Amino acid sequence: MMPDPREKMQIRELTNGDIESVISLWTACGLTRPWNNPREDIEFALAGAASTGLVGVFDGVIVASVLVGHDGHRGAVYYVSVHPDHRGRGLGGQIMEGAENWLRSQGVWKLNLLVRQANDDVLKFYDALGYSDQACVALGKRLDGRPDRHVPAKEGQKTKE
Ligand SMILES: CC(C)(COP(=O)(O)OP(=O)(O)OC[C@H]1O[C@@H](n2cnc3c(N)ncnc32)[C@H](O)[C@@H]1OP(=O)(O)O)[C@@H](O)C(=O)NCCC(=O)NCCS
Repeated sequence: MMPDPREKMQIRELTNGDIESVISLWTACGLTRPWNNPREDIEFALAGAASTGLVGVFDGVIVASVLVGHDGHRGAVYYVSVHPDHRGRGLGGQIMEGAENWLRSQGVWKLNLLVRQANDDVLKFYDALGYSDQACVALGKRLDGRPDRHVPAKEGQKTKE
C-alpha cells in the first residue's frame, strides 16, 4: 500500500541551505518570472522579523514551499508551491496550514491573498481551503522607479524591466 503523504510531509522553516532546492521547485512549478529574482525574494523573507519561508519535506526531498509574512496588520503568502509530481494529495493544504499556523504564532488573525482572476485552478484551491472573494481591487505601485509591467508603456519608454 502507498504511504499516505498527508501523514508524512514534514514542515519546517526554510534555511539558506535550501535556497537552490526551493528555486528548482519554483521553476518546476512555473512560479519564477524574469522580473523577480527568486534568491533575493527568499533572502529578503528570511532576513525580516515579520516574515519567513517554510518548506515541506517528503522522503528527504523538498516538495512544497511558501514565503509567509505580515505587515503589522495582515498576513500574506507568496510562492505557494507543490512539486507537480506530488499534487492532489493534500500537500498544498498542508503547506498553507503551516503558513497560517506561523501567522497565528505571530499574533496575526487574517491572511489576505492575491490571485490572478484568470487563474481558475488556484482560485479553486483556495476556495477549498476556505478563502473567499473579498470584493476588492488590487492596486500596486513600484517603489524602485522601474516600470510597472501592468501599466502600458508611454511612447518611447522602454518596457523591459
Ligand atoms: C496550487 C497548488 C499549491 C495546489 O497544491 P496541491 O498539493 O495539488 O493541493 P491539495 O492537494 O492540497 O488541494 C487542496 C484542495 O484544493 C483543491 N484543488 C487543488 N488544486 C486544484 C485544481 N487545480 N482545481 C480544482 N481544485 C483544486 C483540491 O481538490 C483540494 O480540495 P479538497 O481538500 O476538497 O480535496 C499546486 O497546484 C501548485 O503548486 N501550483 C503551481 C503554483 C501556483 O500556482 N501557486 C499558487 C499561486 S502563488
